[in-house]
Amino acid sequence: MATRRAKISIIGAGNVGATCAHWAAAKELGDIVLLEIPERADFAKGKALDLACCGPVEGFDTNIVGTSDYKDIAGSDVVVITAGMPRKPGMSRDDLININVKIVKDVSEKIRQHAPDSIVIVVSNPLDAMVYTAWKVTGFPTHRVMGQAGALDVARYKEFLAMELKCSVEDISALLLGGHGDDMVPLPRLTSVSGIPILDLLPEATVKACVERAKVGGGEIVKLMGTSAYYAPASGTIQMVEAIVKDKKRIIPSAAYCENEFGVAPGAKGKGYFVGVPAMLGSNGIEKIVTFKMTPDEQKLMDESVSHVKDLVGKVVELFPELA
Ligand code: LAC
Repeated sequence: MATRRAKISIIGAGNVGATCAHWAAAKELGDIVLLEIPERADFAKGKALDLACCGPVEGFDTNIVGTSDYKDIAGSDVVVITAGMPRKPGMSRDDLININVKIVKDVSEKIRQHAPDSIVIVVSNPLDAMVYTAWKVTGFPTHRVMGQAGALDVARYKEFLAMELKCSVEDISALLLGGHGDDMVPLPRLTSVSGIPILDLLPEATVKACVERAKVGGGEIVKLMGTSAYYAPASGTIQMVEAIVKDKKRIIPSAAYCENEFGVAPGAKGKGYFVGVPAMLGSNGIEKIVTFKMTPDEQKLMDESVSHVKDLVGKVVELFPELA
């Protein structure tokens, strides 16, 4: 019996959005809708057509539609929000909040209207606050709203370690928690290479340098390119999409709604926050948050990162009090 193809809609056909479409098509994860604002509809159509013409070479059967009409996202299994401004050199992710919160709010209203059963993955920055915004505006249950950050941040951390070890990236297993800011929390204690603890293989100072480089890895690339990274952010996003559309139950660090997990205490209104935690991803979205005992030092770093996320959400609520 034939199974139905998954439908993946990507909002924003800029660098991150178009590269998400590229990875999703290459992996033949489902049909793709690439949506842009009306002024850029032809750009989205061009991207979609260009990508579709790779099908005969790469051997994927995927319908790829470029559009500015939100009706085209109807029936999506997953909607990825990449819309918003990228960083310029010298900017932090937080500097984007004023402009991007409005964009993510508008996009989320349309998603609520046209794809009410979808699972939403937010990629726009400042990430954790934008996931909160999408959750509030869509009104979707928390398991259907999440943010991509940990998949990317942990990939950078692993890559930097592999460069030091001169070994395959495939053999590195690692975990990273917290917000998608420069205070994210890579965990050397839970990093290993084919099961061997990383601290048995590299001097502590080298591991620490990799941790620090991962924390500011996005900024390093902005400085080099003059704009935000997009290959790895898109790759991390599509890792999450794949886990969902194939119901893989992968455990991927994702910005997920926490009320008590990892010491994330609810805010004044009793609402929790979205922060990076190990999340089991399957066809229902976030199917489980996988908790474990942190050391006091790890908890301290996590608390600092979470408090930064709370400040950012506070800024969102200042700008749009109805999102409290
Ligand atoms: C980065 C941006 C996408 O970390 O947040 O590269």
